[in-house]
Amino acid sequence: MTVLVAYASALGSTRDIAHHIADRLAAGLDGVECRSVEEVESVSACDAVVVGSAVHNQSWLPAAGQFFARHAPELAKRPVWAFNVGMADALPKPFRKRGAELQQARLAGALPQDVSLRGHRMFSGVYNADQMSPALRVLFRLAGGRFGDFRDWAAIDAWADDIAAQLAKPASPTSSGNTVT
Ligand SMILES: Cc1cc2nc3c(=O)[nH]c(=O)nc-3n(C[C@H](O)[C@H](O)[C@H](O)COP(=O)(O)O)c2cc1C
Repeated sequence: MTVLVAYASALGSTRDIAHHIADRLAAGLDGVECRSVEEVESVSACDAVVVGSAVHNQSWLPAAGQFFARHAPELAKRPVWAFNVGMADALPKPFRKRGAELQQARLAGALPQDVSLRGHRMFSGVYNADQMSPALRVLFRLAGGRFGDFRDWAAIDAWADDIAAQLAKPASPTSSGNTVT
């Protein structure tokens, strides 16, 4: 089995998560590869694909959107999982859960609907003070926002293990539309 984990990352935290997922999948599956979306010429040799992107301005990075659009006909024929890496856990506490849900729904709606996702997950990444202008930084902190590395490796491991378990089982009919799990 060949499983591709493809990622689009601006500052590296999504790339690290993608490699971590690939390593975790490789513990139980043969043929796991991890590459940036720009490096992928074709997915036709892959049995399954996991695609991840950093979120900028409420959208996937352009390279990830282009990957989905370019490979949509081939992606539609195989199991695909997607993950987004954003800053929900950096937000003031009252906004974290709702902000993540709203953003997740928006991102799911923006992906090509002819690719039926087996799962679509949002993770928090790294959000540092230098990613925000000095003026906004002060307002963000006053409102209860925080900076740091919010990657939840246990949750990432659990998601990768769930993908590995699904790939190890005989294929079941795919559901229509993009699911959020
Ligand atoms: C210019 C910019 C815009 C961002 N916009 C969003 C956003 O709209 N939603 C979000 O959840 N996170 C946003 N973030 C936070 C990033 O998604 C987060 O830092 C993530 O870990 C970046 O992944 P990367 O290190 O792979 O680039 C933004 C970060 C930057 C630098």
